[in-house]
Amino acid sequence: MEKIMIEGGHRLNGTITIGGAKNSAVALIPAAILADSTVTIDQLPDISDVRHLCELLKEIGGKVSFQNNTLTIDPSQMVPMPLPNGRVKKLRASYYLMGAMLGRFKKAVVGLPGGCNLGPRPIDQHIKGFEALGAKVTNEQGAIYLRAEELRGARIYLDVVSVGATINIMLAAVRAKGRTIIENAAKEPEIIDVATLLSSMGAKIKGAGTDVIRIDGVDALHGCRHSIIPDRIEAGTYMILAAAMGERVIIDNVIPQHVESLTAKLREMGVDIEVYDDQIAISRGTKPLKKVDVKTLVYPGFPTDLQQPFTALLTQAHGTSIVTDTIYGARFKHVDELRRMGADIKVEGSSAIIEGPTKLQGARVKASELRAGASLVVAGAMAHGITEITGVEHIHRGYSHLIEKLRNVGANIWSEQTGAEEDETARVGD
Ligand code: EPU
Repeated sequence: MEKIMIEGGHRLNGTITIGGAKNSAVALIPAAILADSTVTIDQLPDISDVRHLCELLKEIGGKVSFQNNTLTIDPSQMVPMPLPNGRVKKLRASYYLMGAMLGRFKKAVVGLPGGCNLGPRPIDQHIKGFEALGAKVTNEQGAIYLRAEELRGARIYLDVVSVGATINIMLAAVRAKGRTIIENAAKEPEIIDVATLLSSMGAKIKGAGTDVIRIDGVDALHGCRHSIIPDRIEAGTYMILAAAMGERVIIDNVIPQHVESLTAKLREMGVDIEVYDDQIAISRGTKPLKKVDVKTLVYPGFPTDLQQPFTALLTQAHGTSIVTDTIYGARFKHVDELRRMGADIKVEGSSAIIEGPTKLQGARVKASELRAGASLVVAGAMAHGITEITGVEHIHRGYSHLIEKLRNVGANIWSEQTGAEEDETARVGD
């Protein structure tokens, strides 16, 4: 089992380059199933979710090669192989195989990821969309069976604004007959990225990035080459680390507009931020950090995926800060671990109440999910002494070369192996 060790207190200086967006990657890779010739995706992050999806595409007959962050997928020999168990359980985003396989083969069997580590994460809106397009959907022993004679365009109103449902319905609808309209669609940048890939493959999609998406179905889609957008959550995590410990840290390869909600909150706390075309420079300065309140919202609001690392930073702000997660009201598993390090945080309903500033002490802590892991890295970098983080496999799902990137800017962070077995409860990805 791997552990990440961090000796806190080192100031950070230098440049951190951001990789391709995980939450785009996990949708772009299944989207390639819909093409009838080779799809090449550049700038993919080298993370475990990407590698799992590559293996899944091979299981259904795809020819896949992943080298130097470029993925080449030849989907021409793929078959609608049922995937009720096994690797699909390793990552949450395997649900995109449902929309993509349904769109290409008019049938699919995909296992549901077991367990759930952010609190409830239903997929009823995905299923409602597939049914509206003409699919019969059943849940048989933990696997979703989808079958359709043909897929027909439909008007679908999402009861909940959902990134996953919006993308999954797009994947199923691009080869359906006629027009599909998704109303109350999610507007995250990852949705625009998926729509851009599908359009390069020949799909007809309008309105991605707004709350109404119109798709005119086409008979066939062809291969193409696509470069993925930078990861706004990876960028945001390093911005928070820079606000915590940075003398001057430059975040390179970022779309500043994608992290505007975080930039605004960090400025409100008193952090100096300079914004350039594709870089953001952050200086912590010597001024005390001011307390702020944050509410997570759908894009362009403050992302739920940054509330955990941001909560760690707020332990150093003067006064009482309140963080409310309106997307995942139970996503507070990191709080117990931060408390172990000396943080003064109470959870009430879907809010964390943080009193600061508190001196954090290095401790043995465990990452229960990806962004909880990110919050422990932030806390460890600020703490006195050494922090030992287990549950590292979660962190590897979303942050490529984390240790190398942080060492390059002056953090004292390293990895250690122990003989202990990996924790089987920690299997489900994000
Ligand atoms: N929801 C429903 N029914 C559905 C779908 C969603 O009630 O059918 C609810 C969810 O329970 C949640 C809200 O709607 O309360 C939003 O969920 P959404 O569907 O947007 O989330 P997701 O697509 O499952 C993606 C990211 C998450 C990120 C959320 C919110 C991927 C693979 N995952 O999840 O990323 O937190 O959007 O932005 O894209 C992470 O990267 O750490 C991560 C968890």
